[in-house]
Amino acid sequence: MSRTILVANWKMHKTIEETKLFLEVLARDLSERTSDRGTGEIWIAPPFTAIAAAAQFIREQGLTVRIGAQNVAGQPQGAFTGEVSAAMLKEVGASFCIIGHSERRTLFQENDALIHEKIRMALAQDLLPLLCIGESSVEREQGRVKEVLRSQLAAALRGLTSRDVEKLCIAYEPIWAIGTGKTATPELAEEAHAVIRDFLVQEWGRDVAVKIPLLYGGSVKAENIVSLLKQPDIDGALIGGASLDPQLFVQLIRCVHT
Ligand code: PGA
Repeated sequence: MSRTILVANWKMHKTIEETKLFLEVLARDLSERTSDRGTGEIWIAPPFTAIAAAAQFIREQGLTVRIGAQNVAGQPQGAFTGEVSAAMLKEVGASFCIIGHSERRTLFQENDALIHEKIRMALAQDLLPLLCIGESSVEREQGRVKEVLRSQLAAALRGLTSRDVEKLCIAYEPIWAIGTGKTATPELAEEAHAVIRDFLVQEWGRDVAVKIPLLYGGSVKAENIVSLLKQPDIDGALIGGASLDPQLFVQLIRCVHT
């Protein structure tokens, strides 16, 4: 995997106005670079309401930044008050979609079956699914990390063809590391990523497995990102808290995309 992907997950932060201010800082930084730093990708997932404005800004400025959503409905359309479909996201300029984030799983009771449907909906609209998986601290203490990751993967990716799986991106986000300031050590993260890669190899073969970017998420910041990304199976990062301040996010990009 030659590219490094940095994904900003803004969660329920930023109005349209705040989104534009952030993107202006980012655009200025990206345009200041004279050398070819084309080794990495930047993806941003604003709240639903700011996706259209963000996508328009990116287009107008000619930036190579992907804009995506943090969630998608598990149904194509219908009487589902409050839900947003994959086609609607696509229409406003989203090109990827975070699915199965632990906050969705725990706070909004999303189960594996629904997550699987969401992946199917995204794929049907050519929206790249960014599937999040990860264990809780109790599951880690019980020595069940491998089992939990494999079962989340098996349920989410059930029945997908290699052509579909190749379009995915997977983030390993240990729940105990999200927003807590506790990061997995590079070794622990790599161990989990190797479990994910092995599962993909076993199910779809090595050629497919190596095409799927595996991101680490959970309290990623400038102090730990470089050592995490040095690991062989860590292809990028999913960043929450440290992606909200444009200066901090730019600092992360500079650490990595050199
Ligand atoms: P964090 O969030 O970087 O604030 O830990 C990561 C995430 O939830 O995706």
